[in-house]
Amino acid sequence: MTKKLLLGVVLCFMAAARVQADEGMWLPLLLQQLNEPQMKKLGMKISADDIYSINKGSLKDAVISFGGGCTGGVVSAQGLLLTNHHCGHGRIQALSSPEKNYLADGFWAQSFNDELPVPGLFVTFIVRIEDVSKAALEGVVSNMSERERQSIIDKNLEAIRNNAARESWQNVQIRPFYEGNQYYLFVTETFNDVRFVGAPPESIGNFGDDTDNWVWPRHTGDFSVFRIYADKNNRPAPYSADNVPYRPRYFLPVSLSGVKEGDFAMIYGFPGRTNLYLPAVAVDMQVNVLNPIRVGIRDQILAIMGEAMRANPEIKLQYTAKQAGIANAWKKWIGETQGLKRTNGLEEIRRREAEFKRRVAANPAWNTAYGNLLPELERAYAELSPLASARDYFNETTRGIEIFRVASFVESALNLHDTQGPDAAKARSGQLIGFLKNFYQNYREEIDRRLFERLMAIYFDKVPAEAQPEYATKLYQSHNRSATALTGDIYSSTMLADPGKALHMLETDWDKALETLRQDPVLKLFRAINQLGVEKLQRPVSAQQEQIAALQRQYMAALMAVFPERRLPPDANATLRVSYGQVQGYKPRDAVRYEPITYLDGVMEKYKPGDYEFDVPEKLRQLYANKDFGRYVDATGRVPVAFISTAHTTGGNSGSPTLDARGNLIGLLFDGAWEGVISDYYFSEEINRSIIVDVRYILFVMDKFGGAGHLVNEMKVVTTPPSKGKKHKA
Ligand code: ARG
Ligand code: ASP
Repeated sequence: MTKKLLLGVVLCFMAAARVQADEGMWLPLLLQQLNEPQMKKLGMKISADDIYSINKGSLKDAVISFGGGCTGGVVSAQGLLLTNHHCGHGRIQALSSPEKNYLADGFWAQSFNDELPVPGLFVTFIVRIEDVSKAALEGVVSNMSERERQSIIDKNLEAIRNNAARESWQNVQIRPFYEGNQYYLFVTETFNDVRFVGAPPESIGNFGDDTDNWVWPRHTGDFSVFRIYADKNNRPAPYSADNVPYRPRYFLPVSLSGVKEGDFAMIYGFPGRTNLYLPAVAVDMQVNVLNPIRVGIRDQILAIMGEAMRANPEIKLQYTAKQAGIANAWKKWIGETQGLKRTNGLEEIRRREAEFKRRVAANPAWNTAYGNLLPELERAYAELSPLASARDYFNETTRGIEIFRVASFVESALNLHDTQGPDAAKARSGQLIGFLKNFYQNYREEIDRRLFERLMAIYFDKVPAEAQPEYATKLYQSHNRSATALTGDIYSSTMLADPGKALHMLETDWDKALETLRQDPVLKLFRAINQLGVEKLQRPVSAQQEQIAALQRQYMAALMAVFPERRLPPDANATLRVSYGQVQGYKPRDAVRYEPITYLDGVMEKYKPGDYEFDVPEKLRQLYANKDFGRYVDATGRVPVAFISTAHTTGGNSGSPTLDARGNLIGLLFDGAWEGVISDYYFSEEINRSIIVDVRYILFVMDKFGGAGHLVNEMKVVTTPPSKGKKHKA
């Protein structure tokens, strides 16, 4: 009995120690204090100071936030940068035309002059990070109302921002950490002249498409190449033909040596959002209640779009981007729900809560301060759950109906007209017409009708009665509650479903068109539904979430006090972070083990001639047949394509430089393995894996496939000495 107990204790301890190995996306300026020993134990050969320093060029000077939602890495003295293909996708599409289809055919600038300006694209460097928690929370005391607290903090932040030392071309951002218990300041430099340099065709850059999305083993060459331009003083400047390639403080050497199982691998980037400190009740709601609601609705949307796309290649082209966006989150949510079950994550979170309660109960001061937190959180989430479910039914159904997007464009013009006058609305007419033109390019009435019919039926069935406006329910009644009848009627009378008609009206007589559209049945229906949905669902959900945020902040503070021995990583919040771990295979299910590295051979195994997901360009097949691999091979003579690391990452990390033990670039993160995507809520080292495209595949495709060897020559390509037979433990 005692032996068993002891074993249990030891196992628990080991489990805790293992989790600490790789969980978390850490602040670069705290690595020395919190992570360096662990990173060295995992194999890192450089120091925290090489990763983040304000006194010398360090790795952080080569990591950029790309376009606001992705990450990229600088790889040359002339501002060349690498990010994912899926991060550049929208821009590459916008630069393309039927004659110059860079998505289908790829693109390689042969000289600076060929590089294409990308309007609206920007990249941001982090110059300096500072802990400003003390000044931010000055004057805040525990018994003040949330509103008072926030207004004091807002004033403090304003003062900190104004007093922060910065150059005239730099910006200052302050962000809350640990659910608002700490604040950090970021001095940033944003460049707005970023040009497109190159990308492989989609058949490499998006090989495997939706079928392989979130999946390991993977064979996608998910990269694209851009260059940052600056003014003559190397400072940010709007686009100008006179701008010159940016000279970075540091750029990443690129390693041809790769990694093998057990090697250290670190990921440097801008992860968007995690929720690692939710109580079990909240994770259960999010993953087991809300995810299935959204997934169920998107199942319907994807089935309708998919059927039409398979039947008609023209529709396939029009709907591919929309469909990819809907499917990306859909597939992740399914993975989260399955992963939570498989990892027994809820039970583990409940075990942690039980331990929290035990420690709190044993300490009178903690008991007074923290004793009520979990029960209060449980109550608050119990109240949120039905509201959030209803809100999700509302959001997912109404956002899935395409003609409601048109209605919301028109509504914004009408609102402008009604609040600021006809001239104000007219001043925006060009913008609205532009929006609509873009939108209608990828719009098919026959698909939208089916979406409307299916989604409105769900809306009337599932959205609570008090959030359904009388206008809509009466209309539905008058069609005998038949979505088919309602759809037929609406689409035969609206002017918005016919692109030609709607645009023509707006372009010929804007004022008259607005007045006519005010009476359009789709507009009237959308207005009524949207107004009540915001009022009865979205606002109450936000209000409840505000209360919850205050509780989560106190709970976070309590966790830090009660578990001083645990290093708790801050949740991701789209700021610069370091994740680290090792290259490791995993067991996705019973009796199956995945290897951690894929090869070009695997691309050929998946090759399906003519298939829209798995076709392989002829040139690549030739290179493969001729074994024309150049120096981009591993010790076995094969071209590596992708590998996985135990490092903890999430959406926003896409394009993140992945670095070896010496800080050389070995790849770009582009995805997470499906079995482990629950890691936004619950990290399990057994199953969490980040997916990285090997930099040797990137160089191989550029040089051998794309004929852009000059770009490879621009980089600092290195090889690292083999690790002298020293074995890495798996
Ligand atoms: N899953 C990747 C991340 O969340 C996106 C991959 C893009 N590729 C695709 N086929 N949708 O962004
Ligand atoms: N694909 C995601 C992104 O674009 C990364 C991930 O979730 O692993 O940010």
